[in-house]
Amino acid sequence: MEKSTNIVWHDASLTKEERQRQNGHKSAVIWFTGLSGSGKSTIANAAAKELFDQNIRNFVLDGDNIRHGLNKDLGFSEEDRTENIRRIGEVSKLFVDSGQIVLTAFISPFRQDREIVRGLLEEGEFIEVYVKCSLDQCEKRDPKGLYKKAREGIIKDFTGISSPYEEPNAPELVIESDKFNVEECVKQIIDYLKSQNII
Ligand code: ADX
Repeated sequence: MEKSTNIVWHDASLTKEERQRQNGHKSAVIWFTGLSGSGKSTIANAAAKELFDQNIRNFVLDGDNIRHGLNKDLGFSEEDRTENIRRIGEVSKLFVDSGQIVLTAFISPFRQDREIVRGLLEEGEFIEVYVKCSLDQCEKRDPKGLYKKAREGIIKDFTGISSPYEEPNAPELVIESDKFNVEECVKQIIDYLKSQNII
């Protein structure tokens, strides 16, 4: 719902392209999606460290952290998850405008919500990475003990148990985190960024 009126857009004096030129690389969103416990945050943070070591400006936005601040007013209903992803999409776009690579680690279970974020960005700037891991394996890992609580009915609307997860139809990358170690997953991402001349 549009509430702001009498607001005029200000063009920034520095362009995204000028910032990218100074950084020596392009900017993009690496959008990780997958079940809770699939390894999104682990892989995103490991990839961020590798990019940092290669002098590539980047930042990680992570579901569990953003929900402590910017999105602490949101829960896990379909509506709230959609709003969660909408806000992250807008923040991600700002990071891209700043010339950086932003890595986002949100379940983002709904295809349409992810496609809306893709639509905010220019061609090639949205890199959807499906962190594929069987529900069985995620549940075995259960790093936060949440699957157990979801099975017991203590947590409602839990993704994969009592709330749906929609797999991407045509992600830029599929990372099978139950078949490869973190280092191999990171290499897949770095290789992709190089193949697209982003870094
Ligand atoms: S999303 O669906 O809106 O994209 P997000 O990635 O921000 O979710 O948050 C998911 C994290 O919140 C999970 O990794 C888990 O730690 C925690 N969580 C708490 N309740 C739920 C729930 N009902 N469903 C999924 N994750 C939950």
